[in-house]
Formats: sequence, structure tokens, C-alpha cells
Amino acid sequence: MSVTASSPQTQPDTRQPRQAMGELSAHDDGPALVEAVATGARITVDWADGVRSHFPLLWLRDHCACAVCRHPLTRERLFVPLQEIDAAPAVAIDDGVLRIDWVDGHESRFDPVWLRQRRLDAPDSTPDPLPQRRAWADDFRPARIAHHDFMRTRGEREWLEALLRDGLVLLEDGPLADEEVSRLAGRIGPLRATNFGARFDVRSKPNPNNAAYTSIGLALHTDLPNWRQPPDIQLLYCLQNEAEGGESTFADGFAVAEALRESDPEAFRRLAETPIDFRFQDEDHDIAVRAPIIQLDAAGRPLEIRFNNWIRDTLRLPLDQVDAWYAAYRRFWQLLHDPRYQLEFALAPGEMVAFDNRRVLHGRKAFDPNTGKRHLQGTYLDLDLLESRLRVLAR
Ligand code: OGA
Ligand code: ZN
Ligand code: ZN
Repeated sequence: MSVTASSPQTQPDTRQPRQAMGELSAHDDGPALVEAVATGARITVDWADGVRSHFPLLWLRDHCACAVCRHPLTRERLFVPLQEIDAAPAVAIDDGVLRIDWVDGHESRFDPVWLRQRRLDAPDSTPDPLPQRRAWADDFRPARIAHHDFMRTRGEREWLEALLRDGLVLLEDGPLADEEVSRLAGRIGPLRATNFGARFDVRSKPNPNNAAYTSIGLALHTDLPNWRQPPDIQLLYCLQNEAEGGESTFADGFAVAEALRESDPEAFRRLAETPIDFRFQDEDHDIAVRAPIIQLDAAGRPLEIRFNNWIRDTLRLPLDQVDAWYAAYRRFWQLLHDPRYQLEFALAPGEMVAFDNRRVLHGRKAFDPNTGKRHLQGTYLDLDLLESRLRVLAR
């Protein structure tokens, strides 16, 4: 996939538009520029395939990638767009490249492919290798990537794509090695530390400060909804799972939220519009936030689910809202736990599940610690670094 127009040989960095003056020539991965004219506050260009595009003068000046307008080493923007540009520059197509001679004497050059990918009159024209989110269908089965493929770039890329698309992916046939989860996570980025550490052991412990560190069943939940920014991605690596029980359960929180909207719009609205308190306290910490269970984006689509019944704090709502809130919560709980929306499987030693903790809820069945050992190692990662890693691998 062509991410930007510039040639990797001359410009290996893809952070910014980086056609450098004098380094551009004809390109074969897009239609050529055939005509360019300055009309009023815009430049109008015609492409060889008949498409016409308009670019505002100030936008073009702002995106000049010469060594004066962008730092030649960091490629970060130096130009600051504070002046209006009303005088029409001289425009030419020079060796296939759009060349602009501004009235102040500055010269800019724009690669045709770079420009084409950023047409302002075509929605969503900027190329991005990130996959679109896909809601789980009834027959959803998570992608499984072998550990040895993950250690090669191609498997890692598949793993990242599945995780961003489905919100959950499995890795299999990994070594039964202490800290393997940290090594795998470390390929993507620094581990996201929380009050439970950067890396945590999930097993039944003598003095648990958290339900996960017991052997009880865990109903579906998201981790750390009591944080302003809960961890994005959770990795759970299975080292031992001999105990009876302990199967893992998951549900696509966004898909179930949509199902709630469909079947009970009033309950959906209430959970989306009513902030409630979440709070975790132990000897060393007291971490609390007030936020709705379903957070929506500007377009009204689910953006984040906060769902964790253990650390829901006192329900502080006006008296006349309390019963309706419980009814809505119950409705969402029931839908989430409806077998139609639940995925259940037992993690085998050497398997790792990774999921989007702000979209996908996870849980586990109770296990009997007298029948064998169960030991998972977990950590968290930031979504930004997953996306970054995929863009880097896709270069
Ligand atoms: C957790 C958790 C699930 C499990 O540690 O947050 O939910 O399978 N663990 O033990
Ligand atoms: Zn410039
Ligand atoms: Zn959990």
C-alpha cells in the first residue's frame, strides 16, 4: 500500500508530507497532473483521469514541505499559518510536480500522488492502513496467530489487524516462559502500568485486593473503569490452566450496546447519559472517576464501555432516576450475558488472548484451585502504540 507519495529511498520517514524540492520526479502510482491554475483564493488542478480538485492557497502554503517549512531532520512543521494569502501565486507543472512561486519569493513543490491522496473535495481520502472496526457476528470466531508467525513481521501485522478490527485476537503455541507476555507486548510499545503494576499475575492469592486474584467466577467486565483513561488493550497469557473451570468469556460491548439501543432505546439512552461513580480502594490507592457506562462519540456511536460491578461505587443519582437506572443496567447486563453475544473458550497453556478493554468485556468461570493450578500473566498496552506499530509495519 502506498501511504505517501514520497520515495522511500530519499525520504524514509513517513511522519509528514515530505516531498523535498528537487527530489521529485514522475510517479507511476497515481494519475498525473495535467493542468493547474490559480483562481481567486484557490488553486484548481486537473488530473489525467479527468478528476478536478481545488486547494485553498493557505492550505497549500501551510503544507509546503521544503527545508524551511519543515525541519529537515524531524520533518515536523515549522511554518505557522498566521497570514492570509490573497495574492495569487504563479503556478506551473514542472516535471510532473505542482510548482508554486509565491509572491513573497518562496517556492513550493507538491508531489501529485501526495496531493491526490489528500484531495479536500473527496471525503476520507487520506490513506491509512488501519482496519475498520467490525462488530462480532453470531458466528464470530477470533483470529488465531501462531507465536512463531507473530515473531515474524507478517504474523504480527495480522495479529494487530485482527485486534483493531475485531477487538480480540488469540496467539497460540507460545512458550511456557515467565514474562513472555512482557516480551510480546514490548514489541508493540512500553507496557501501560497501573496500580496493579506494569505486569500482573492472575492466580488465586492469599490476600487478594481484587476479585481476579481469587478463584471466584468473574462476570463480564472491563478492567479499571475507575480510571479517567482505562487501559486500552489487555493481554492475558496463559501459563497454567489445569484447574477445573476457569473458562474465559467475552462479549463485544459495542455490538451489545447497539443491540440494547435497538431493543430498549430508553435503557440505552439512560446508560449513555448518566454518569455514575467507579472507585477502587486498597491500602495504597483510592482511584475514582464519574463517567457513564456507555460513552458515545460525537456521531452517537459507542466509544467506550465502562462495566465492572465490583468497583461500581455508591450510586449517587437523583431519587427519581434510581429505579430507572437499575432497570437499564439490568437490561444491559442480561444482554451482555445472553449466550447469543458471548464467546467462551478455555485458554490453553501457551495461548494469549489480547482484547480492546474499552470495547470488549471479559470474564471467567469459577475454578476449583484444589483440582490444579491456574496462572495467567497479564499486561496492558496503549492503542496509540498498536496503531503506530501497524502503520510502521505497513510502510
Ligand atoms: C483480570 C481478569 C480473567 C481471568 O485479571 O482482570 O479478568 O481469566 N482475569 O482470570
Ligand atoms: Zn516551504
Ligand atoms: Zn479483568
